[in-house]
Amino acid sequence: MASDASAILAHTRSVVYLDDGEMVVLTRKGYHVRDLAATRINKPVNQIEWDLATIERGGYDHFMLKEIFEQCDTVRNTMRGHLLEEEGTARVSGLNLTDDDIKKIQRIVITACGTSWHSGLIGEYMLEELARIPVEVEYASEFRYRNPVVDQNTLVIGISQSGETADTLAAIREAKRRGARTIGLVNVVGSTIAREVDGGIYLHAGPEVGVASTKAFTSQVAALALITLRFARLRNLSILQGRQIIQAMKALPDQIQDILDRADDVKDLAERYWRSNNALYLGRGVNFPVALEGALKLKEISYIHAEGYPAAEMKHGPIALIDENMPVIFIAPKDAVHGKIVSNVEEVRARGGQVIAIKNNDDDQIKRLAAATFTIPETLDLLTPILAIIPLQLFSYYVAVRRGCNVDQPRNLAKSVTVE
Ligand code: M6R
Repeated sequence: MASDASAILAHTRSVVYLDDGEMVVLTRKGYHVRDLAATRINKPVNQIEWDLATIERGGYDHFMLKEIFEQCDTVRNTMRGHLLEEEGTARVSGLNLTDDDIKKIQRIVITACGTSWHSGLIGEYMLEELARIPVEVEYASEFRYRNPVVDQNTLVIGISQSGETADTLAAIREAKRRGARTIGLVNVVGSTIAREVDGGIYLHAGPEVGVASTKAFTSQVAALALITLRFARLRNLSILQGRQIIQAMKALPDQIQDILDRADDVKDLAERYWRSNNALYLGRGVNFPVALEGALKLKEISYIHAEGYPAAEMKHGPIALIDENMPVIFIAPKDAVHGKIVSNVEEVRARGGQVIAIKNNDDDQIKRLAAATFTIPETLDLLTPILAIIPLQLFSYYVAVRRGCNVDQPRNLAKSVTVE
């Protein structure tokens, strides 16, 4: 008996999941499940698809590094079978939503915690930009104790790698009580959230063991892109635009591999900056949540104080922190707001800050201004987070290793936060 299927994978791949109000009686001869009135219940036996190799380190020093390097495959797995190129849309039948249901959605609330909340923010940019549906992203811990405005025309999307986060689960239950339809973006098959929502998408990223979430994040963003494509095609998006997005999505796995092939360049960067005590991450638009996620990755595994901000907010406070000891990491691809971010880079430089920039190939302007750069391939603006986060994950990893930190099990943190 275990709280997580991966703990018993060495012995069996057949598992029975208990629901609330159920108990199991285990004896030498077998087991049976009863409810609290002691009535026997027949529970289905589920087969886990993962094998032991997927939860071993496979030659990597840490699970986190292995999981970062798996992202070429995991993002591909998330998209597999969903993209309908000819029609320029996505098939997401697991949502259990008809075309009519989707057209009736008036509002979307995304609720999650930590890294999953960051991917939710990216989903907000995607869904509002392409599907033109108003979206709010709420910390699950806040949502559950507010008096949220949700009704039967609101779609509530819960995002969770583990599918067991107590706050996210409680937020989804609250949304259901208020009549909202709920869907889940979950990685762990058979987890509580996956079982309680009305529909959803499994991420198929495979088990994530490192406490710092990496491959789940990129898969969550890919899944949100699938949902966006489906919703947007039923509203404003043309077939040609849909096809263009699919082409860009299909290119992502190879582009991720291209970044991973240059991991040593990020290691060199970490070698230059691992002694820093603070770091500021700045991005604009859809890359603002990437700044938040980059900062979270650094602080949780290396214990360096790091903050993520929308780049333009810097002048409303954080700019006071900038001096020659402050690395400022800009996510600065050549997107619609590139000119604005160049001005922000100049503002930091003028105050002696050390600019590290994530940029696109032909961007000589940023190259001239930054103390260090890392190049990512070009993609559609809204898909950039899937590429931009990877060097930031690697940077946190190499910095933490250099500082002698326990990368896979950072202090005070648990992989699944199943308590309040
Ligand atoms: O399993 P979940 O996605 O629901 O977990 C949510 C957060 O606890 C999780 O993302 C946490 O912030 C990670 N340590 C981030 O790396």
